[in-house]
Amino acid sequence: MDFVRVADVTSLPPGTSRAVVVGRYEVALFNVGGNFYALENACPHQGGPIADGWIEGLTVTCPWHAWCFDLRSGTMTLGDLAFIPRFDVRVEQDGVYVSAEPVTR
Ligand code: FES
Repeated sequence: MDFVRVADVTSLPPGTSRAVVVGRYEVALFNVGGNFYALENACPHQGGPIADGWIEGLTVTCPWHAWCFDLRSGTMTLGDLAFIPRFDVRVEQDGVYVSAEPVTR
């Protein structure tokens, strides 16, 4: 699978997130304690921008109506009721790379 460089490692400190563009996708990129996670930047409820959500542990809470998702899988924390497509992330030297397509479940 192809990967796309989306950020410098130092530009996204631990505890932060932001939206990046990967081809035709808008992706929410998170840094949790130095580990990076990437989910499509659209909540399955009504499309809320997950990149602007609250991060607590490995959970992100949608800023619009507070649905919560596991950053590792994109699955709702309440159960496998809805999910956000996730992308693979690699860190190489000083760059963060995201897979060009979401990972199939
Ligand atoms: S749009 Fe995310 S919880 Fe409603």
